[in-house]
Amino acid sequence: MQLIQTVAALRQQRHDWRQSHASVTLVPTMGALHEGHLSLVEQAAKGADQVVVSIFVNPLQFDRADDLAAYPRTLETDLEKLQALPVNAVFAPEASEVYPLDQSRVSRVHVPELGDMLEGEHRPGHFDGVATVVLKLFNLVQPDVAVFGEKDFQQQLVIRKMVADLNIPVNIESAPTLREADGLAMSSRNRRLNADERRKAPALYRCLQRVVERLVAGESDHAFLQQEAMAGLEISGLRPEYVAVRRKNDLGVPQSVDRALVVLGAAWLGETRLIDNITIDL
Ligand code: PAJ
Repeated sequence: MQLIQTVAALRQQRHDWRQSHASVTLVPTMGALHEGHLSLVEQAAKGADQVVVSIFVNPLQFDRADDLAAYPRTLETDLEKLQALPVNAVFAPEASEVYPLDQSRVSRVHVPELGDMLEGEHRPGHFDGVATVVLKLFNLVQPDVAVFGEKDFQQQLVIRKMVADLNIPVNIESAPTLREADGLAMSSRNRRLNADERRKAPALYRCLQRVVERLVAGESDHAFLQQEAMAGLEISGLRPEYVAVRRKNDLGVPQSVDRALVVLGAAWLGETRLIDNITIDL
């Protein structure tokens, strides 16, 4: 496994892989790797000759400076974890390598509608930052396939729309959400929870599960279910931002004919913001 930290070295490696007709799969991450990330790598390795994992805490997608500053950076242990897996290269550049110019003046990708709702509404500019860095990573690594987790359900749809809209020649794969034993979705941000917050955190998944159960039982008043779930989160000590029942393919508000749905939620626990979702086919 080689560690690549410059654009020039990455270009050279890509050139060599092209010469040998190797297929390349990219797993983009921001590091602080957990088993969820590693499951994406395992999936990537199944279909590719060369697996590249990128580790880059992308300043452009953070809407709050304190969140960017507090984001865990653990490159050494990340590399140890990846060493044990079928990974050929880790691309872990400095921010100045990715954004040599003033960040505020870089060209950006905006994914309208899908990128403006839910997470996009609560974190203005977030998906512009995500789409921009992912397009840059696609242009740098030039992968055949890229793998994204369903944990960030809206992100995965935003990337799919960008790829379709801009004819980007990369196949997007999704991978299921890995959870702790108590249901909490694994996340790099979980390590910022104190003991009391960690105990409360699984309430987000539980409240989303309750909504799913009610949908399966035939409840069709989504506004009511959403309100009830928000109230349940508050009782559990979380500060909910939204709970939403949406269409799975485009996050539109479902009509009664829509059977493929996703229930998404975001809530604060102290200084930490958690997101989760469950998909459902009625
Ligand atoms: P990050 O939060 O590090 O996540 C990297 C990838 O791991 C994403 O595709 C995410 O959906 C997936 N992932 C996170 N938690 C998971 C879990 N519990 N189970 C399965 N997959 C999980 O998402 C980002 O980084 C960034 O926005 C990025 C796409 C790298 C662009 O900067």
